Amino acid sequence: MTDTIDLHLEVLSIIGDVADREKIEAYVVGGFVRDSLLGKPGKDVDIVVAGDGIVFAGTVARKLGAENVVSFPKFGTAMVPYDGGKIEFVGARQERYDPASRKPAVAAGTIKDDLLRRDFTVNAMAVALNASSRGKLLDPLGGRNDLKARILRTPLDPAKTFDDDPLRILRAMRFAAQLDFRIDPAVLRAAEEMRERLRIVSQERITDEFLKLLSSPQPSVGFLPMQETGVLDIVFPEMAALSGVEQRKEYHHKDVFLHTLKVLDNISRETENVWLRMAALLHDIAKPRTKAFREGVGWTFHGHEEIGARMVKPIFRRMKLPLEHVPYVEKLVRLHLRPMALVDEEVTDSAVRRLLFEAGEDIDDLMTLCRADITSKNPRLVREVRRNYDMVARKMAEVEEKDRMRNWRPALNGEEIMKECGIGPGPMVGKLKQAVVDAILDGHIPNEHDAALQYLHSIKERVLGTAR
Ligand code: CTP
Repeated sequence: MTDTIDLHLEVLSIIGDVADREKIEAYVVGGFVRDSLLGKPGKDVDIVVAGDGIVFAGTVARKLGAENVVSFPKFGTAMVPYDGGKIEFVGARQERYDPASRKPAVAAGTIKDDLLRRDFTVNAMAVALNASSRGKLLDPLGGRNDLKARILRTPLDPAKTFDDDPLRILRAMRFAAQLDFRIDPAVLRAAEEMRERLRIVSQERITDEFLKLLSSPQPSVGFLPMQETGVLDIVFPEMAALSGVEQRKEYHHKDVFLHTLKVLDNISRETENVWLRMAALLHDIAKPRTKAFREGVGWTFHGHEEIGARMVKPIFRRMKLPLEHVPYVEKLVRLHLRPMALVDEEVTDSAVRRLLFEAGEDIDDLMTLCRADITSKNPRLVREVRRNYDMVARKMAEVEEKDRMRNWRPALNGEEIMKECGIGPGPMVGKLKQAVVDAILDGHIPNEHDAALQYLHSIKERVLGTAR
């Protein structure tokens, strides 16, 4: 096994040359080294120097002609944006125990000291950049073996590593899913023991890890250990509550949590869209709240799609997720049973038109969610449900071809309704508009301006009359 790494990236030679001139040791560390060894070098680079990281970052930035050095003196780090990615600099550190104080102090250290303080052995490898040893791999903790064995271990006792930064508990779950690695049992035990410490971590950092996990190829690989260690109760209690909720087995897994993970993995094979994945994660989120036992029927979850849709916004708020995606996720959660309902009843044009109207341009994503929602282990049933969805999709394509429902606008708008009926703004306008829209969607009148106007006049007395 060679211990010299081909770094491929020109900027790393430039940094090495600057380090030689400044007579300072410089290394590339962390994710860049890990990913290079996995054969997928990234754009973001972390540099450690045996000296002052901020001063060195300034010297490199001048050499690269990069203008914006962002430095964080409190942490001794600096960031230089470069070539669409970023280069982060830090001085090597170690902890010194001062017998007079119970708190360890951070002091300058060697590169090996620095590697010991990192999160996982696979992230604790460094490659030298100075010309005399350029490309030489420093791996004092056996990161390369762990990379081969596909296992996440901490450089120190996991309790110590997590104590330094409890976010690492979540990073273990995220890397497991991102890299498809196992987590060392000792690390899982420490995660369970120390999970309460996650409460002191900022929501932004937690959400950042959550989104990376959600974007991974098979998110269940991270969510399962989160649930097993109780970490999920802290970072996502509504999701943790799905565990142990039983349902009938026909189309789904018995346990709503395991079913949800399956749906999430299914959809992750189909799309990179993290908000569609989020909709999959949340589609049954209200099942624990709506669960009821009906004699002769078994467990029911009446209205879980509507209540679930209403849970989306508070969850986004608490997790500080971007609120602009709320309407999309709400819509998919609210509508996720509708295509199946179309299968059950006789598929009328009117029912298809309504669904197309309500889903609008998100109809394909809704169908992707519905197909991902089939998690039965019975192949005959799976084939049957898939065939039914194919049939609904064909019907939708036909109606879409005829009526162009996706970007459909009703032929009358609110302004006109107010003018024609001589009323001002208020709930009556919505009521009248809904009546016209219903008539069009049900196929009673064509979606044409004159027909809509005529219909409005034929119903206005009755509708307005009921309000008086
Ligand atoms: N690191 C750490 N503890 C943390 C965060 C980061 O020890 N809580 C160290 C690790 O050595 C990590 C490096 O800093 O490899 C860079 O961190 P980051 O950019 O967050 O992660 P990467 O490993 O680069 O992976 P990714 O880019 O996929 O997030």
